[in-house]
Amino acid sequence: MDPREVREKYDAFAPSYDWAEGFLELLFGIKRMRRGLLRSARGKVLEVGVGTGNSLPGYSPDCVVTGVDISRGMMQQARKRNGRVGVAARWAQMDTHSLGFANGVFDTVVDTLCLCTYSEPVRALKEMARVCRPDGRVLLLEHGRSGRGTLARVQDKWAEWHESALGCVWNREPQDYVAQAGLKLTSARRKVFGVFHVIEARPT
Ligand SMILES: C[S@@+](CC[C@H](N)C(=O)[O-])C[C@H]1O[C@@H](n2cnc3c(N)ncnc32)[C@H](O)[C@@H]1O
Repeated sequence: MDPREVREKYDAFAPSYDWAEGFLELLFGIKRMRRGLLRSARGKVLEVGVGTGNSLPGYSPDCVVTGVDISRGMMQQARKRNGRVGVAARWAQMDTHSLGFANGVFDTVVDTLCLCTYSEPVRALKEMARVCRPDGRVLLLEHGRSGRGTLARVQDKWAEWHESALGCVWNREPQDYVAQAGLKLTSARRKVFGVFHVIEARPT
């Protein structure tokens, strides 16, 4: 789906996102996966597709976070949440496909549950790698096509409908995109019937 359409969808979705996503966080244990992933976040952090700021509570106090998102509505919710969480943060409305930062300026780049919404996921990952220090970390929590045949076939069957409803392509293969973008995988775990991926990678 075109990024402009995605932006409109998420602007409309912003007020109810936490309610819907909160249910999935509980059902699939996403909160625990976030916590595990974010333990590796250090220093200057860029979080792309920061959304309503669900990951903010997972950062250690020494992280300084730049949160970017294509949807102003989602980011407004993140700013509100950060009033309670208190992470050192700044915000910018930006498309992950073309990040407005110089090369190698972040120690850590984080993306949670966004690869499914990018029109060009490999390009987005290349951008994440570009702005990350060569010895930094790219941390991803993504969902994709299940490793179990029956569930994967259900996802395939309903993929078009799901994308048109939510702007989310739920039968992608995140690890393939990481490889195609030229990132070096340092750790990858699959959870919940192989649907969720907790990935740590190096930019080069
Ligand atoms: C499923 S939500 C995930 C939000 C948050 N990361 C989380 O884990 O709850 C996807 C987010 O990606 C953002 N997004 C989608 N396409 C984008 C793009 N091209 N550039 C930046 N943000 C984008 C959406 O606006 C939305 O906030």
